[in-house]
Amino acid sequence: HAFSEPTSELAGLKIMVTAGPTREPLDPVRFISNHSSGKMGFAIADAAVKAGAQVTLVAGPVNLPTPQGCQRHNVLSADDMLKACETYAESTDIFIATAAVADYKASQVAENKIKKVGDELTLTFIKNPDILATIAARQNKPFCVGFAAESENVEAYARGKLVNKGLDMIAANDITAEGLGFNSDNNALHVIWNDGDKHLPASSKAELAKGLVSLIAQQYNKN
Ligand code: CTP
Ligand code: CA
Repeated sequence: HAFSEPTSELAGLKIMVTAGPTREPLDPVRFISNHSSGKMGFAIADAAVKAGAQVTLVAGPVNLPTPQGCQRHNVLSADDMLKACETYAESTDIFIATAAVADYKASQVAENKIKKVGDELTLTFIKNPDILATIAARQNKPFCVGFAAESENVEAYARGKLVNKGLDMIAANDITAEGLGFNSDNNALHVIWNDGDKHLPASSKAELAKGLVSLIAQQYNKN
């Protein structure tokens, strides 16, 4: 097929993608979050549409236009992201989790604005649900793809997540690599599955998304 034409590697498949950060409220005016831009997830949603899939993009608060042809569901907190994902999971063939979900949330969201009293403030946090692991543990689970952004022991940590979360594939990236990753337009991925792996060398997130979507289609069709 011609390079510029849409491929049909994922024709007829329903894909759910999470992207961006989550935002965990502390009180009516404050939250904690992270610097995730959502770019990788949005690029994957775009590539999946172009590969013929029907795509639902569950997006945290990011400043990005919706890729053409995908259905977007905006959320803020991890709890809300999980709720949205559970709604769509039933009819999802492939789940790609790129969201930088906050690992913890405030144990209690203050009803009123927290006042400035004293020289120190201590807040207590509790663990958020693991959205990817929850979906991967479903009885009728979709093909599950995770991301692992690591700053050390990249491959070992990624393989650990592949096994512990019950995933079919994981895309690892080294966030210490110069000019790549989190907020950047470029990235490099080491994609790992049960009986194989592939390095997708540094390039634009759009190029990487295309490469990853192809690998996912290959492995999905082997199942
Ligand atoms: N993930 C998720 N829900 C969470 C945490 C992570 O769905 N509450 C997903 C991410 O979207 C990603 C994968 O799990 O696809 C790995 O996320 P990561 O933050 O690297 O792993 P954690 O299990 O949170 O472990 P840690 O942050 O300690 O490395
Ligand atoms: Ca985490």
